[in-house]
Amino acid sequence: MREMAVFTGNAHREFAEAVCRHLKLPLGDCEVTEFSNENIFVRFQENIRERDVFLIQPIVPPVNTRLMELLIMIDAAKRASAGRITAVIPYYGYGRSDKKDQPRVPITARLLANFIEVAGANRVLTLNLHAGQIQGFFNIPLDELTALPMIADYFRGQNLQDPVVVATDVGGAKGARNVAARLGADLAIVDKRRTGNNDSAEAMTLIGDVNGRDCVIVDDEILTGGTVASSLKLLRSEGARSVHLACVHPLFAPRAYDLLDTSDVAELVYTDSVPVSRPFQKVATHTLSVAPLIGDAMHRIHTGGSVGELFL
Ligand code: R5P
Repeated sequence: MREMAVFTGNAHREFAEAVCRHLKLPLGDCEVTEFSNENIFVRFQENIRERDVFLIQPIVPPVNTRLMELLIMIDAAKRASAGRITAVIPYYGYGRSDKKDQPRVPITARLLANFIEVAGANRVLTLNLHAGQIQGFFNIPLDELTALPMIADYFRGQNLQDPVVVATDVGGAKGARNVAARLGADLAIVDKRRTGNNDSAEAMTLIGDVNGRDCVIVDDEILTGGTVASSLKLLRSEGARSVHLACVHPLFAPRAYDLLDTSDVAELVYTDSVPVSRPFQKVATHTLSVAPLIGDAMHRIHTGGSVGELFL
């Protein structure tokens, strides 16, 4: 079997290092820099001929730069005769643009899949896509991992009373139902509307009973915090005893800090799939690391083991 080699761009070096620590492998040396004209330059500083190459790069702000870094790294690895190239994308940017739901709009999540394939990736490893169907945008093998069992296990140890897991929209109901099942909790669903092509969201009505109960809102990502903040308000108005928040991808735009730090959320739980720019002032937070999960999946891909067995 060809040797494994792991590299990263500039999106989330700390995470790539954590994955390498778990794998007991050094993080490979790859120069990824930008010229003053914003053109990106990549050079692998070691021989990767015939190696099983893993490129770790979440597509996070500045999104277009990090995406280009990944694509150029894939191209450089291909031209350096890597044996196989796996794009490890803990957060798949543009994931919300996954359908043509109004006239004359793109399906950017699909366009990205094309870019990644054309650049020369042989496979993709990712975590909690915005919609599972994005898998089908690729014609190369894709493994999608999930951090939801880890989130459920965390809350199982929290002594919640009569817990309810809450999905912030119908699209998130399946994931929330899985968390609820693992937690032995009920499920509630918020009917959320987006009013335009901006970031604002409004929680309209609640399906389910939360009165006097501890609630756990589970979402794939938090960006502005608008979705979870309006859901939290709704749950409170329906008599929730406490509201905990959990998301896989903590993207946290500046507004999320304002909204959540002034809320009465009991706790905010998230993974390290993307870098978090600064700590919250008032909200209690807890980070769950997905580095071991991603590392184990990479090892299984390398050795031809089952990735699905990670979730049995
Ligand atoms: C939307 O469908 C997602 O599941 C999240 O609810 C959304 O991306 C969160 O965005 P924001 O925090 O800006 O409301």
